Amino acid sequence: MRTVKPLLCVSKHLAPLRWLSKPRNCSNAARASSGEKKTGVSDSFRRQVASGPRFQDFIKSPPVTLAVNCEHTDEHYLSEDLGLLGDARKVYFETYGCQMNVNDTEIAWSILQKKGYQRTADLKQADVVLLVTCSIREKAEQTIWNRLQQLTAMKKKRLKTNSPVKIGILGCMAERLKTELLEREKLVDVLAGPDAYRDLPRLLAAATAGGQQASNVLLSLEETYADIMPVQHASQGRSAFVSIMRGCDNMCSYCIVPFTRGRERSRPVSSILEEVRMLSEQGVKEVTLLGQNVNSYRDTSEVQFCGSERTKLSRGFSTIYRAKQGGLRFSDLLDLVSRIDPDMRIRFTSPHPKDFPDEVLQLIAERQNVCKQIHLPAQSGSNQVLKAMRRGYTREAYLDLVDNIKQIIPDVSLSSDFISGFCGETDDDHQQTLSLIREVGFNVGFLFAYSMRKKTHAFHRLQDDVAPQVKQRRLEECISVFREEAERVNAAVVGSTQLVLVEGESKRSAEDLCGRTDGNMKVIFPKEDVAVQASASNTAPIRGGGYVLVKILSAGSQSLRGRALSHSSLISTPTPSCDGYK
Ligand code: 5AD
Ligand code: SF4
Repeated sequence: MRTVKPLLCVSKHLAPLRWLSKPRNCSNAARASSGEKKTGVSDSFRRQVASGPRFQDFIKSPPVTLAVNCEHTDEHYLSEDLGLLGDARKVYFETYGCQMNVNDTEIAWSILQKKGYQRTADLKQADVVLLVTCSIREKAEQTIWNRLQQLTAMKKKRLKTNSPVKIGILGCMAERLKTELLEREKLVDVLAGPDAYRDLPRLLAAATAGGQQASNVLLSLEETYADIMPVQHASQGRSAFVSIMRGCDNMCSYCIVPFTRGRERSRPVSSILEEVRMLSEQGVKEVTLLGQNVNSYRDTSEVQFCGSERTKLSRGFSTIYRAKQGGLRFSDLLDLVSRIDPDMRIRFTSPHPKDFPDEVLQLIAERQNVCKQIHLPAQSGSNQVLKAMRRGYTREAYLDLVDNIKQIIPDVSLSSDFISGFCGETDDDHQQTLSLIREVGFNVGFLFAYSMRKKTHAFHRLQDDVAPQVKQRRLEECISVFREEAERVNAAVVGSTQLVLVEGESKRSAEDLCGRTDGNMKVIFPKEDVAVQASASNTAPIRGGGYVLVKILSAGSQSLRGRALSHSSLISTPTPSCDGYK
């Protein structure tokens, strides 16, 4: 009986490495059955190698078969046609972490749907449970480990009832913890890293047919899933995420992303435009362009756009990587995307402050449907900490950029990310962060306690020397200053009229609706019929996915309250003045 399950590793570019796992995983079983001496290579293994793939197979041909069993007889290989179909098996997804993961879920689902899988929102009905995971902080991973324990307990129970379920880990955690996941959680069946979702049908087929653990965690220099139209689920189909680039080259010293999601690569512009056009035809009213470093987008695949110009970094910013040359830049893409549908709002996240040339800011200011909202992750307000974080800017350069942004886009809403308690952070550094938060006046913030991640520059070179309770205290201080500032910034819109894209019923009360302003602030307002357009006498109910003008009556740190005045549209509404629409 075989005790070691073969760890299956397949690449989307290479033919399956079916003979490689033989010596490691199968030798004992093969020897036992053939009576062969320990030192020799079995005849059957030689035969396997001889009949296995040639060197050329690894270079040119796409994989058509998949090794699922170390005995390597032909019947253990799955043909592309027969073995990979979903057979209406039901997949249940759970998504953790950032918006990129929401988009990745849609990509993975799109791939499986084409192979005949069905999707279920009921865990009990699922034949396959896929967790799309996040590794950015220890806490995110711990949540997933805990969830895995519940799921594997469920899997054991289901084995007894003859309705087996397969468990798959997708995304960053699969990439970071491949061996630990397969060894510690023996009941995990499939691992697919962020660049391996195309392999999911094959991995699932392997796990189902052979009962083996199957994994592909290879990172790619090219994969952008450009040709895969994600199946959108967000906000009842009225808002959609469109991934425009993947990976990150910045190597901030605290960050695991470059290791889990690989090198930066941009999706060709034509496929982005095609997806946005399709979404517009489906009635989607808001598109968020996504990427780990969204504004360093650069598509060099479209020859007609190629120039010799280098990426211009914002003043006072640097990068440890050589900036890319030529091609279509983020400002060009934003220009093209925003022309597709003037009634569709365009947002983007998450940018890096280094890539905000004036062209981008001017376009945001001028283009009616590009939201006047910028996420500008600062991470710290102290030069000493920014240097240790390898952010490539100083506090002064960041504040200069904020001034420039406010000058070009006077009504801009700014949000940011901060990390409290990074290696070597002193109380004085922390005070500088608080003062930066006060100085800028963000209206939304994402604040985190530092969590040391293996592989990063900080892990190798710096000391995680801020005590957990000190990190926590500093984090809480940042949160409270953020709240005060957000309240102040939001209070400034009370009395104004804002164009709100309606999301649907408020979570708290069925009497209320909720939607978002151009600045991405949540607005709650009573559900009532309003004039079909400003100054019209006939009224109509308000529905999700429509625009309404809302008079803002009060503000808190997290949301605004108001009253709807009339239905509206982006096209019929002038660009807001600093206190909203007059
Ligand atoms: N610890 C805490 N926060 C982190 N972030 C990234 N890496 C870490 C880490 N190791 C935060 C940064 C980033 C956001 C997505 O997550 O603020 O902008
Ligand atoms: Fe991580 Fe820095 Fe890249 Fe953002 S820019 S994903 S923080 S390495």
